[in-house]
Amino acid sequence: KKVKDGLLSSSVNPPSEFKEAASFDVNQNESTVSITVVGASGDLAKKKIFPALFALYYEGCLPKHFTIFGYARSKMTDAELRNMVSKTLTCRIDKRENCDEKMDEFLKRCFYHSGQYDSDGNFQELDKKLKEHEGGRVSNRLFYLSIPPNIFIDAVRCASTSASSGNGWNRVIVEKPFGRDSESSAALTRSLKQFLEEDQIFRIDHYLGKELVENLSVLRFSNLIFEPLWSRQYIRNVQFIFSEDFGTEGRGGYFDNYGIIRDIMQNHLLQILALFAMETPVSLDAEDIRNEKVKVLRSMRPLQLEDVIIGQYKSHTKGGVTYPAYVDDKTVPKGSLTPTFAAAALFIDNARWDGVPFLMKAGKALHKKGAEIRVQFRHVPGNLYNKSIGTDLDRATNELVIRVQPDEAIYLKINNKVPGLGMRLDRSNLNLHYAARYSKEIPDAYERLLLDAIEGERRLFIRSDELDAAWALFTPVLKEIEEKKIIPEYYPYGSRGPVGAHYLAARYNVKWG
Ligand code: NDP
Ligand code: BG6
Repeated sequence: KKVKDGLLSSSVNPPSEFKEAASFDVNQNESTVSITVVGASGDLAKKKIFPALFALYYEGCLPKHFTIFGYARSKMTDAELRNMVSKTLTCRIDKRENCDEKMDEFLKRCFYHSGQYDSDGNFQELDKKLKEHEGGRVSNRLFYLSIPPNIFIDAVRCASTSASSGNGWNRVIVEKPFGRDSESSAALTRSLKQFLEEDQIFRIDHYLGKELVENLSVLRFSNLIFEPLWSRQYIRNVQFIFSEDFGTEGRGGYFDNYGIIRDIMQNHLLQILALFAMETPVSLDAEDIRNEKVKVLRSMRPLQLEDVIIGQYKSHTKGGVTYPAYVDDKTVPKGSLTPTFAAAALFIDNARWDGVPFLMKAGKALHKKGAEIRVQFRHVPGNLYNKSIGTDLDRATNELVIRVQPDEAIYLKINNKVPGLGMRLDRSNLNLHYAARYSKEIPDAYERLLLDAIEGERRLFIRSDELDAAWALFTPVLKEIEEKKIIPEYYPYGSRGPVGAHYLAARYNVKWG
């Protein structure tokens, strides 16, 4: 039904040829969805997009009539694309016997067209091939821009003028980075809007497609016990932590132009923060949710330089193995000051969150891989059991941990009596461990997001005003860091990161969880 809803959505007076179709009362079986992966020869396409499309097919989530086209400059035949794609497809969802058969069926629906990203002629050829596969049905077209940002606009222009559907919807998924500051992001949005309506643009932040991030609203709004505590009255601080136990290997060229604040904080962590802190939306409708996210982002104080610390990993030898420094990457300019680690303290100046520090920490080449939200609650006033708790009262406050990945879990740290005749308390976990509770494997974020884009569901995609608000928070401090050439604190590859992160947290009476 949702696929059909998407089909019926039409826009008023679109600014270009790349417009949504007029309303057609079509039967889903009479329409077809063509998905073009632009940049199909690249890393993201191989690693994430094709496997996610296969998983959707395997689960029976793709419409009856669909075709997938890879598009890139590299020369490849359909068979070569299939061969490339087949190497990354897995039957992760479950190991039913018909997996190989399903893979073959799926691969038969995948095709390739080689062309330049700025060539109308090449996109017209693509259009011709798409039409052959669409067989005269109402055609809905989804273009996934899995290419470097400097060629987004060329590709959108060509797709819109030369390969758009004349009778169904046309949508474009745009990958981050959406600019590198307020100005460049606004310029990108302006250029996209020359060819697309806002509701045709699906700006992807794959963290929004992660199971536990999606579950945040469920946790808050469908459990009586959490929402009443969700404010400055009971919450001391909130932490959003991202860490990877590998460096920028292979992506140094891209990374050096962005750095960890733009790569992780301004998008992934900030999006989680917005969902965490927003007021109750009027409904679950995409616009209602995004309205609340924008409000919370616009209530935030722009980040100050004294509330940020930055770091960069240096080489480290452990167990006879030498791990490289960030600047050892050949694609990184010598002496680069680009941060691979950052910690920041942010504040939301509204009635609910006044004075509560929202701390973020993100780093590459750290001691472990993970992403989590930690909510530290206030002390129990006049606690009868202070004596039984010991000296570290901070350790005895409740803490809710939402472990986004790996090994998804939600657990609440509580004080509990150690069984026995004495009265000693310890901290125990009320633990919802996903692997133990749910037998089905959790779908990859890209599956959820691709399905939503096909169905026209915009809830998990970033609206342009959200993006503006997100950049407004980070742009001044990013400029200051770059203009003042702030030297990052160097930390060894595989360590816990710079000690400055602890001093920053301590300024706000916070200990990292
Ligand atoms: P790649 O660098 O692998 O580029 C994808 C394809 O684009 C390449 O195969 C190449 O295809 C073409 N291309 C690359 N550079 C240029 C260029 N300078 N001019 C013209 N074409 C070029 O990118 P990824 O696949 O890693 O990422 C795609 C997009 O997704 C990017 O915007 C990236 O920032 C974003 N992203 C990537 C993630 C990842 O894990 N890889 C994670 C999150 C976002 P050909 O030469 O055949 O035309
Ligand atoms: C991407 C960043 O957006 O997210 C990468 O550009 C990072 O630097 C990646 O490695 C992390 O995603 P995930 O899903 O592996 O945690």
